[in-house]
Amino acid sequence: MKTKIVTIGEWNNKALDDIDEAARILREGGLVAFPTETVYGLGADALNADAVAAIYGAKGRPSDNPLIVHVAKVSDCLALTPTLTSSFQILADRFWPGPLTMVVPKKPEVPELTTGGLPTVAIRMPEHPVALELIRRSGCPIAAPSANRSGRPSPTKGDHVVEDLDGRIHMILMSGDCQVGIESTVLDLTGEIPTILRPGILSAGELAEALGTEVAIDPGVLDQTVEKPKAPGMKYTHYAPKAKMVIYQGPKERVHLEMIRIKEEKEKEGQKVGLVAFENQEYREAARTFFAKLRELDLAGVDLILAEALDEQDSIGFAVMNRMLKSAGYRVVDLTKDEETDRRKEQ
Ligand code: TXA
Ligand code: MG
Repeated sequence: MKTKIVTIGEWNNKALDDIDEAARILREGGLVAFPTETVYGLGADALNADAVAAIYGAKGRPSDNPLIVHVAKVSDCLALTPTLTSSFQILADRFWPGPLTMVVPKKPEVPELTTGGLPTVAIRMPEHPVALELIRRSGCPIAAPSANRSGRPSPTKGDHVVEDLDGRIHMILMSGDCQVGIESTVLDLTGEIPTILRPGILSAGELAEALGTEVAIDPGVLDQTVEKPKAPGMKYTHYAPKAKMVIYQGPKERVHLEMIRIKEEKEKEGQKVGLVAFENQEYREAARTFFAKLRELDLAGVDLILAEALDEQDSIGFAVMNRMLKSAGYRVVDLTKDEETDRRKEQ
């Protein structure tokens, strides 16, 4: 398949024509990748089962892993879920458009394939002018997982989408780098206590404050040593660079010295080694750049990636570590214990 690739720069007639063309493709059941503030998404009409099936095909994604449905206004949600609860409305008012996905009961009209067979549907209104305009013009709710081949780091630049999906989808709208850089916070509103199924830059604290109630974090997420999460997507191999990756944890200075020591040692053995480290405690920057760093190191052909752990007490540090641990296949060296452990086996 020939993929049409366009860059949306200035907001002019050409840009709107391109978005119109993309919207038409979506309406006709085609696949279009587009930017959001979190990561690039791979969109299809969420109510068209054949179009949704094509997403799984293009990504190579297991079909029990449900998709997030994107809307451009709150009233669009009524095509997906029977009623909007007060919690839903409070959070939509406060955080949409933005990096929050809410899981609610689904209407029968939403195809099983969109929700991976679940009786619930995940909904988000993204905060990116191109995404919003595209959804509006398409006239349909847009199912969109991250626009990467399944298992690869999520795409935060248009080039990442081209790398993974050129020739597999109808159109790619490119428009700069994603400013958040990690995927949205997924919040399950179907239980008694709202529960975070996937951490993002929007924290439990901020959600709890808006709701005036407790917000829980799913145990499968909170215990970052074990994978038994409720969001089905969390159980698959994820975000994996081609190189072997190891995370170093401990006092910052020691971590840096050790990473440099190992790098030199491995390079003497003829290996190519890449480092992922963060200058200070600016974790928004870490979130924004993490996936792009992995892809950069892959392109540079490194054999080994050494990464500095982030502080999991910080809510954004926690969210980035959630991705980093998966990328590294849970290989962590704790310098205070002087041992390499597989965090999954520590239980
Ligand atoms: O920021 C984002 O959320 C990006 C952009 C494109 O909006 N999208 C994204 O989609 O990350 P994806 O498909 O890569 O991840 C969706 C996550 C998966 O972990 C999936 O299992 C979970 O959301 N999910 C989707 N629907 C669900 C549902 N009904 N119940 C529980 N988890 C659900
Ligand atoms: Mg994804």
